[in-house]
Amino acid sequence: MEISIFGLGYVGTVCGACLAKSGHRIVGVDVSDHKVELINSGRAPIVEAGLPELIAEVVEAGRLSASQDSMSAVLETEVSIVCVGTPSRDDGSLDTRYLEQVCHEIGTALKEKADYHLVVIRSTILPGAVMEVLLPILERESGKKAGVDFGLAMNPEFLRESTAIADFYEPEMTVIGEFDKRSGDILENLYAGIEAPIVRQSIEVAEMIKYTCNVWHATKVSFANEIGSIAKAVGVDGRTVMKIVCEDKKLNISSYYMRPGFAFGGSCLPKDVRALTHLGRHLDVEMPLLDSLMESNKSHITKGYKLISSFGKKKIGFFGISFKAGTDDLRESPLVDLVEKLYGKGYQIKIYDKNVDYARLHGANRDYIEYVIPHVSNLLNSDMSAVIDHAEIIVIGNPAEEFKTLVQQQYPDKIVVDLVGFMEGTTDAFQNGICW
Ligand SMILES: NC(=O)c1ccc[n+]([C@@H]2O[C@H](COP(=O)([O-])OP(=O)(O)OC[C@H]3O[C@@H](n4cnc5c(N)ncnc54)[C@H](O)[C@@H]3O)[C@@H](O)[C@H]2O)c1
Repeated sequence: MEISIFGLGYVGTVCGACLAKSGHRIVGVDVSDHKVELINSGRAPIVEAGLPELIAEVVEAGRLSASQDSMSAVLETEVSIVCVGTPSRDDGSLDTRYLEQVCHEIGTALKEKADYHLVVIRSTILPGAVMEVLLPILERESGKKAGVDFGLAMNPEFLRESTAIADFYEPEMTVIGEFDKRSGDILENLYAGIEAPIVRQSIEVAEMIKYTCNVWHATKVSFANEIGSIAKAVGVDGRTVMKIVCEDKKLNISSYYMRPGFAFGGSCLPKDVRALTHLGRHLDVEMPLLDSLMESNKSHITKGYKLISSFGKKKIGFFGISFKAGTDDLRESPLVDLVEKLYGKGYQIKIYDKNVDYARLHGANRDYIEYVIPHVSNLLNSDMSAVIDHAEIIVIGNPAEEFKTLVQQQYPDKIVVDLVGFMEGTTDAFQNGICW
């Protein structure tokens, strides 16, 4: 394909050189005449392993050149990939002025172009910005319609500087946020030679994925540093600890727990977070990330309360009250907190939870249920259909299989608040979950 790449920084240069190596014809566009000259003389404008050789090869082969003429670059190519910088402003907000400028230039050129053209945003940009900021510029300047005269896609970049070329050829995945199918098809075709799963989604999902990845990486670094600091303060080598922690691929380094839903709880997580952060404070260790965990968790219980109270109904049926399915353990269940909050405000609550009910009648947990939370115990009901009949709002509290039917059987007169994610994929679910 004939491709123009806007912005010859780390992303644009690597992307351009690699696509040229794959056989495409690339013209790079940059406002810096120095970078344009370097590329045209076969030299790399950035320091990156393997890049000087690659640039020399593809420039020599006539498949990569650079220019400052954005009009010709758009007119002479089928696809424009935008890789300009999106730096932070002083207040932390994202500065999109270079992107806006490039979209202005591409839009102006599209006005002169009869053929269809695909615009791909590869720069990192906040969710909503492509559709709300860049698309209007492209349409206004070109006088054309996205999805008809030109295509639009968001294709976040995941390369790491220093291993950027290898990351280009061996990404974990290629994320394509597409305005329409035609745009996604063209972009998917561009990556045909790369062995990695292609994920096709909306533009907003693609934008959000990029930020989620980077913020997750930042969270991992901060977490490891804070754990290392506490470990050091007690005379333990945090590197050994983290290395062994990472060996557990079931709970630790896995998708487990990585799902928006409801607050954590149970007899271990809250207690242990509190104990370790207490120790850290005692040892004078700064650990703002770990210190924020209980506060973050509490905010989700408050969110649950706000959502339920927002419907203006008083009769609530809880399905599941223990912190996870298959246990009768109610210690520090966030659902108990939620029930207590609602009960205190006069909501009429009935609770169905097979395991907890059994424990109340027979189990070892009976004392806890009867003496520590007697008010909650009185709300338990063994008859699931009685709780359904009572409820104006059905709250699914834990993912017991039997609660799936509550979602499948649509009750036209009831509101379902799903705290666990059974309703995934439906529009209602999107509104009646608290973190999704
Ligand atoms: N560097 C990385 O490792 C990395 C990885 C993934 C994503 N990203 C994202 O990719 C984007 C680009 O990052 P980068 O590190 O390559 O930036 P960079 O600052 O290295 O390069 C940006 C280039 O854009 C050029 N530019 C600015 N305005 C222009 C215009 N109007 N026309 C043409 N060129 C113009 C600049 O001269 C510069 O050469 C950013 O949004 C960044 O967040 C970067």
